[in-house]
Amino acid sequence: MNTQRSTRPSTTPAAPSLLATLHSTGRSALLASLLAALLAACGDGSPADSTDTTGPTDPTTIVQDGSSAATEAARVAVGDLLFHDTRLSAGGNLACASCHVQTRGHADADGVFLPLGGPALDQQGLRSSPTLDYLNDNRGFAFDNQGRPAGGFTWDGRADSRAAQALGPLLAANEMAHASSAAVVARVRSLPYLAQLLSASGLDAAASDAQVLEALQGALQSYQAGDQDYQLFTSKFDAVQDGRASFTAQEARGLSLFNSPQRGNCASCHSSTPPAGQTRALFTNFGYFALGVPRNSSSATADPLFMDMGLCGPVRTDLSNRTDLCGQFKVPTLRNVALTAPYFHNGAVATLQDAVSFYATRDIDPARWYPVVDGAVDKFNDLPVAYRGNVNQQPPFGLQPGQAPRLSAQDVQDLTAFLRTLTDGFVP
Ligand code: HEC
Ligand code: HEC
Repeated sequence: MNTQRSTRPSTTPAAPSLLATLHSTGRSALLASLLAALLAACGDGSPADSTDTTGPTDPTTIVQDGSSAATEAARVAVGDLLFHDTRLSAGGNLACASCHVQTRGHADADGVFLPLGGPALDQQGLRSSPTLDYLNDNRGFAFDNQGRPAGGFTWDGRADSRAAQALGPLLAANEMAHASSAAVVARVRSLPYLAQLLSASGLDAAASDAQVLEALQGALQSYQAGDQDYQLFTSKFDAVQDGRASFTAQEARGLSLFNSPQRGNCASCHSSTPPAGQTRALFTNFGYFALGVPRNSSSATADPLFMDMGLCGPVRTDLSNRTDLCGQFKVPTLRNVALTAPYFHNGAVATLQDAVSFYATRDIDPARWYPVVDGAVDKFNDLPVAYRGNVNQQPPFGLQPGQAPRLSAQDVQDLTAFLRTLTDGFVP
């Protein structure tokens, strides 16, 4: 299926994966539907367990009637234990923290590869692990009053909360790989700190399976929402905002390009001003766009039978008739982006500077990004031809080969220097 795999479990031989096995049957229609079922990935539950995705729906509903701040702190603490516990996976070898590493902005530590999972850590994931930082202002998926999609968790927004999302990786065959939510509950009941989880959730030893599952999901959400590590706001950018540091000339040029509507235009999607009523910019508007990023030729996404079209499927299944949305993925925050390689939903771009270059040269030098097929550049080659018209053409895009670039090679370096000021832990 793919020739290059993640190096994380370097001692594990690359056993043939289920997808590879299916692949060899050659029955592509069957494969497509099986893929959709298997690719629950890290989001809502697998189809077989879809009735179990009833967690709390947003961070505020986690604090149930009568529960105190002390209880919420207890939930954060036990959520921290759960997030880092490899016993939460079927194989006992993969924690949430394995793919969401604190020193990597809570994204994947592998750097250039897509994550592996499954009981033997040999099942290839097909999407890059996104940062989990700065998601507290994200809401459930919805269309705004102009019909534009926004919010939701995962690259296609199919989970409405982090609690609902947590079931995705627990049940996904290529992640933590439990066979059912009952198997998840049985594992949670065996943890030495079960009593701590139950009491933090207002439960006791008589708790039902459904209550234990909800407690697990709620604790994982409380941890990500409440632990300061996920929203530090300690970058150089923040220090400059607070008057405690100043940008270099290059970083200042980068910020100006980032904000300029006719140059980088980055801020139109990666907002550089705080949301209403807030004091810190989040560098995302939580919206959705199709950028037409190239196919990842060195991973499972090179599987000719799998095309990830984001909002319209096949991983997400409820918007498959909205072909106008095919190719759209959620705008990620750019805070800590220097730590979260590889870039874009399919990890197709290895370095931050190349990710910025993609914006500068996608249209004026497409042969740099896409293969030449039969003498022509196969532009937007990770989307079916029918949907390539969905790809965004606003600045910095929308140019033809030969036209003057909106962003020079120097501008790309300046923008990259600015993006590096968004990494937390700056010491003036
Ligand atoms: C095998 C690697 C892996 C493991 C283990 C894993 N994740 Fe993920 N995570 C991913 C990937 C890949 C995505 C993107 C999935 C998608 O878009 O469909 C993701 C997405 C997410 C998101 C959505 C972020 C956003 O911006 O919307 C959250 C939240 C999350 N994971 C939390 C968790 C939690 C909690 C656990 C443990 C229960 C966990 N993850 C385990 C790889 C992993
Ligand atoms: C039209 C909206 C839009 C504009 C304008 C835009 N971006 Fe993005 N950006 C996105 C979306 C959507 C993604 C995710 C796309 C995907 O993975 O398919 C993304 C992803 C990225 C990533 C990868 C982040 C990661 O975690 O993988 C970087 C880096 C980035 N953008 C930087 C920039 C810069 C720099 C600019 C300006 C030159 C810019 N963006 C302009 C919407 C936009």
